[in-house]
Amino acid sequence: MATAQPVIELAGITKRFGGTAALDGVDLAVHPGSVHALVGENGAGKSTLGKIAAGVYEPDVGRIVVEGRPVGRWDTVRAQRRGIVMMAQELSLVRDLTVAQNVFLGIERSSFGLLRRDHGRRFAELDEIARFGLDPDTRVGDLRIADQQKVEILRALARDAKVIVMDEPTSSLTAHETRRLHEMIRLLTAQGRAVVYVSHFLDAVLEVSDTVTVMRDGRRIRTAPAADQTKASLVEAMLGRELAVSFPPLPPAPHPDTPPLLEVEALAGDNGVKRASFTVRPGEIVGLLGLVGSGRTESPAP
Ligand SMILES: Nc1ncnc2c1ncn2[C@@H]1O[C@H](COP(=O)(O)OP(=O)(O)OP(=O)(O)O)[C@@H](O)[C@H]1O
Ligand SMILES: [Mg+2]
Repeated sequence: MATAQPVIELAGITKRFGGTAALDGVDLAVHPGSVHALVGENGAGKSTLGKIAAGVYEPDVGRIVVEGRPVGRWDTVRAQRRGIVMMAQELSLVRDLTVAQNVFLGIERSSFGLLRRDHGRRFAELDEIARFGLDPDTRVGDLRIADQQKVEILRALARDAKVIVMDEPTSSLTAHETRRLHEMIRLLTAQGRAVVYVSHFLDAVLEVSDTVTVMRDGRRIRTAPAADQTKASLVEAMLGRELAVSFPPLPPAPHPDTPPLLEVEALAGDNGVKRASFTVRPGEIVGLLGLVGSGRTESPAP
């Protein structure tokens, strides 16, 4: 359960990139043992806020307080020392190193005097906590994305993270892998750690988070318990207008006998597309769905 003192508190954070105000006077308090989701449209400022928490950027204006103590200079090294780490939107592992090497990268000679030969024992300890069952000697580049994320989580645990910022962690995951990630998140929060969960997937947000902050145009619109929110209430806050205005009713679907405007049959190419067929009828919206690398964005071979 969330306790009274936030593990990290951001107050009045403003951050500009040239002429863009990425964040404008944003407040955020994250409590131990809880999942705090950040939602908002593209460019709302979610990643920037996460990066400021994790020391990737310093705010132009505003205060950062960790466990009741204001921080002075703030960067990723200082943030890690205070237990704040981030899993980036683009995973940041070294593909040619092993799982264990990635987990301990940069903390080989930490204040614990951790030496290479201790890695095996330390890895086993971490694995006991996380129960991922990853082989420490596998090359990270040979792992699936979901397993690479487990390595990122182990990296955070190895740094004894109190707050893990996860930026779009499920964007390349299947539904099953997302459920597994959520189980891991529950495990982390049961240990008193906090997770800042940035996502466009509102069902996942409502399922996993305790608190949701909605952002729009660099401002915090609302922070409320997830239990009091619905998908519709979140979307309305994200867009700043009612759903009916944003998504007018669809026109009736075209009759199946309507001749197609576009017919694609058994399209193939050396870009990985194999025998793709579909038709597009007038008035139709056709969705192309698939994981990263499945070929949904590939153009036909010339
Ligand atoms: N390094 C940067 N340099 C310049 N502008 C930036 C930089 N990072 C973010 N911005 C701008 O700041 C604003 C907020 O961006 P941010 O990445 O925080 O949004 P976001 O909510 O994470 O969006 P998305 O959902 O697309 O990931 C956007 O207008 C973006 O273009
Ligand atoms: Mg982002």
